[in-house]
Amino acid sequence: MESKALDFFAIMKKIVLQTSIEVFPDLAALAPADRELMDRARRALQHSHSPYSGFRVGAALRLVNGAVLGGSNQENAAYPMCLCAERVVLAAAAVQYPGVAAESMAITAHYPGKELREPISPCGACRQVICEVEQQHGQTMRILLRGDVGEVFVLAQGRDLLPLGFGGGVLER
Ligand code: THU
Repeated sequence: MESKALDFFAIMKKIVLQTSIEVFPDLAALAPADRELMDRARRALQHSHSPYSGFRVGAALRLVNGAVLGGSNQENAAYPMCLCAERVVLAAAAVQYPGVAAESMAITAHYPGKELREPISPCGACRQVICEVEQQHGQTMRILLRGDVGEVFVLAQGRDLLPLGFGGGVLER
C-alpha cells in the first residue's frame, strides 16, 4: 500500500511540559507566612481602582529581606492603560527595594455579586513580567493563588505559569 504523504514527516522527538500545582484545601492549611501573605493580598483589594470592570485584584509580595508589600489593579478610562495588581506590586518593590529579589507572591480577587470559588490566575502579560523578575534576580518566586474562598494553589515558581516563555537569554550575544 502506498504510504500517505503525512507519514513522511516523522516526528523526531516529543517534548512533554509538566507543571505541578500544590493544592491546599483552604487558608488554614497554609504555613503561617503564606497565610499572612494571602491576607496581605486580600487587604490590598481595598485600594483597587476598578470602576470600569468592577473586578478587584490584590497581590502581595514577600521579598528575600523579609519585607512584604501589597498592590492592587489600577484602571483607567483609557482601558488599555489598566495596570494589573501583580505588575503594580512588582514595580513598587523594584523602586522601594532595588536589587532585592522576591521569594513569594500571593494573588487574590473579589468581584462584587459573584463569589470567586476558584483561584484566579495571572494574565499572560503579568506571567511574562514575573518571569523577567525571576531571571533578573536569579531567584524563583513561589506563586499562591486564591479566589474569595476555597482552595489555594501554590506553584514553585513563576516560570511554571509560562512554559516555553520568551526570555532575555535569547537576546544575549
Ligand atoms: N487584572 C489583574 O489585576 N491581574 C490579572 O492577572 C488579571 C486581570 C485586572 C485588570 C483589570 O483591572 C481587571 O482585572 C479586569 O481584567
